[in-house]
Amino acid sequence: MRLAIIGGGGFRVPLIYGAVLHRQRFDEVVLHDVDQTRLDRIALVLEGQAAAHEKPVPFRTTTDLDDALEGADFVFVAIRVGGLEGRTIDEGVPLGRGVLGQETIGPGGICFALRTIPAMVDLAHRVQRLAPNAWIINFTNPAGMVTEALQQVVGDRAIGICDTPSGLCRRVAAALDASPEDLAFDYFGLNHLGWLRGVHDGRGDRLPDLLADDVALNRIEEAQVFGAEWLRSLGMIPNEYLYYFYFDTVDAMASKPRGAYLLEQQSGFYAAQPDSPQAAFAHWQATKDERDRTYMAEARDGHDLAPHDPDDPGGYEAEAMAVVEAIAGNAGAVRILNVANRSALPFLDEDAVVEVPCVVGAAGARPLAAGDVPEHARALIDTIKAVERATIEAALTGSTELAVKALALHPLVPSVTAAREIFAEYRQRLPVLEERFA
Ligand code: G6P
Ligand code: MN
Repeated sequence: MRLAIIGGGGFRVPLIYGAVLHRQRFDEVVLHDVDQTRLDRIALVLEGQAAAHEKPVPFRTTTDLDDALEGADFVFVAIRVGGLEGRTIDEGVPLGRGVLGQETIGPGGICFALRTIPAMVDLAHRVQRLAPNAWIINFTNPAGMVTEALQQVVGDRAIGICDTPSGLCRRVAAALDASPEDLAFDYFGLNHLGWLRGVHDGRGDRLPDLLADDVALNRIEEAQVFGAEWLRSLGMIPNEYLYYFYFDTVDAMASKPRGAYLLEQQSGFYAAQPDSPQAAFAHWQATKDERDRTYMAEARDGHDLAPHDPDDPGGYEAEAMAVVEAIAGNAGAVRILNVANRSALPFLDEDAVVEVPCVVGAAGARPLAAGDVPEHARALIDTIKAVERATIEAALTGSTELAVKALALHPLVPSVTAAREIFAEYRQRLPVLEERFA
């Protein structure tokens, strides 16, 4: 099988290649990027990785997108249109007005989607033409919106993934001294907007007892970050990204914007000229560890959380490989993925992309029914889905009216006036938006 990685010069690509080496499912990997320098830098890291492995998987690089796609069985996509410079603008503009500045939640996610969706739709058409049987596994954020836009072209062959639901499930399983494979996780929502409502083993739902047990609960990062009391009020465990809705993070983020920090860190990484593949791999590893340590600091700071475990089997590369294996092996495995709703969440229409447990096999990913959900969660999902839909439509049509509407409908944007001002500044600072929304 051949894997194409679009965004092949991206910093997280060695994670994927590591999983490819580990699982030995692919015979060839093709890395595509628009930036040759980034591609070369990552290729050197991969050489270092391959050299350390007894069974290296051959890879090549290209800046020709069609060349990368042709004949692919799986297409992994993780691109960042506008680079980290774009992310600093996505986050910085709202923060400058006292509004949340985050790459996927709130105005930042909307702006990121506005410039990403046209590129993704173009990619989907190319896949349709050059690799019509390929599965597109989308990591590109904001993953829910981007997957919904991809599905408008390729339907169910586009599947969105995120590492946060499975991460939560793993931590909950550990707190219950159980293995995740032995449990059924009743999780529902949209990408970066989900809740774990139940954890079933053969005997029943273990979540109520877990929520009542402070000691066990404290082993779960999400419980520490949100506080046991709030989890008990909800009767569920929210995805860590709900932190941005439930708690005020603007000041903490304004003092340390994530995009600006990463831009500096990554510029250093890509500019370095290691003298061997081994040195390149080691440098990448150290940079990655530093990135992991500072992830979501605005929520994690002040809590006595265990440092990131470098041997943690999770991460989005493991999630992507699990989907590949379930499809290639027709396994019928259950994974939490971003797929078309069908009737999983009965209050949304069938094409709305949702993040729910799915049965995954040779025919793709089929969502399991979540059924009715608590009213407060439903209300938030409904609102954010309306925001997502206005955003997708705005991205595809170049309508300023719709872009402003998407921003203004978002619960974390205080007013229509703020929405107009934020969009005007986005346009002013991002030439690609200025051009598209002329
Ligand atoms: C998690 C999310 C991803 C997101 C990443 C951001 O893994 O699930 O969707 O891209 O965090 O991490 P960063 O280090 O870029 O802030
Ligand atoms: Mn994610």
